[in-house]
Amino acid sequence: MADKVFQIPLMTPYKMGNFELSHRVVLAPLTRQRSYGNVPQPHAILYYSQRTSKGGLLISEATGVSDTAQGYPETPGIWTKEHVEAWKPIVDAVHAKGGIFFCQIWHVGRVSNTGFQPNGQAPISSSDKELTPQVRSNGIDVAQFSPPRKLRTEEIPVIVNDFRLAAKNAMEAGFDGVEIHGAHGYLIDQFMKDEINDRTDKYGGSLENRCRFALEIVEAIADEIGAEKVGIRLSPFANYMQSGDSDPKALGLYMAKSLNAYKIAYCHMVEPRMKTVGEKVECPDSLVPMRKAFNGTFISAGGYDMEEGNKAVAENRTDLVAYGRLFLANPDLPKRFELNAPLNKYNRETFYIPDPVIGYTDYPFLETTV
Ligand code: FNR
Repeated sequence: MADKVFQIPLMTPYKMGNFELSHRVVLAPLTRQRSYGNVPQPHAILYYSQRTSKGGLLISEATGVSDTAQGYPETPGIWTKEHVEAWKPIVDAVHAKGGIFFCQIWHVGRVSNTGFQPNGQAPISSSDKELTPQVRSNGIDVAQFSPPRKLRTEEIPVIVNDFRLAAKNAMEAGFDGVEIHGAHGYLIDQFMKDEINDRTDKYGGSLENRCRFALEIVEAIADEIGAEKVGIRLSPFANYMQSGDSDPKALGLYMAKSLNAYKIAYCHMVEPRMKTVGEKVECPDSLVPMRKAFNGTFISAGGYDMEEGNKAVAENRTDLVAYGRLFLANPDLPKRFELNAPLNKYNRETFYIPDPVIGYTDYPFLETTV
């Protein structure tokens, strides 16, 4: 390109274990609620393929590990053969364009209600503390939750195994790896955060005990598919879904240090300034201590624009930057950054509508990249 005089930090290559990334702009996991009946749909082929660049890393939308994992309409699963088969052409399309694709696997825990649960049973959690109704991150809908049932100690290995099987299924679907969703007040976070976890067994109380569930999942999945294919997302500072912690920095540091033992591919942390999923606030805290404590690849996310992403990489505060809303609205985001081109604006109102095209695959590309 004649007008390209130097390579911006975000567009420099990076080696993440065995994966050769050609740049550092990652597609953040984005729930889009267009997987009817929990089955990924053919329209997701175009959506993910549009956001693929050669050597780019993509993280899928949060994908349920079991029939108790759901809490939102039309979110995908990966616990049945049908789910695995439905993911295959989507993963193939990403690979056809040279992308690297990790599947984010989740369990919502108490962020659910009996309508999403098998036989109308209560959602499960670390605690029986009920979540009060919440305005969804589209700023429009109000989500209602049912009182959860506190998991018995002997049930916990069953859930760990559900995560392990989901990771195995993700490999069968062709994904390059999995990202364990340990952020944003969902089941794993419901164990880690002391605002929620009131257990008195070995999964509650001390930091070590509260993080045990997360680390057991990491270990089980690393054993199953290989540590180099495992990442985890954490948001120690967020209080989304009433998931606050009295000492988020200690929690983040404990997890960053403990993860080193498993030699996983990456640790993906959400910036302290993102108190909720879509709202940026002034915050004096930073992820730097966690970045320093963790030996593997570090991904930062939350409220980044191009300039800040470049700065974070240049100052070695992170290896990779995940972009959510900007990537949602700009399928060719890495190219736009490279060319310093203007960005499309995102439309919150279409984040979670079930339409297979509108607000999903109809955001325009730059003319030069069509
Ligand atoms: C999200 N986010 C999110 N996070 C996650 O771990 N799993 C998910 O499935 C989702 N889903 C989701 C959907 C939508 C529509 C939005 C806007 C956000 C959070 C997302 O990955 C990211 O952390 C935030 O959007 C903040 O980053 P940006 O948007 O400021 O780059």
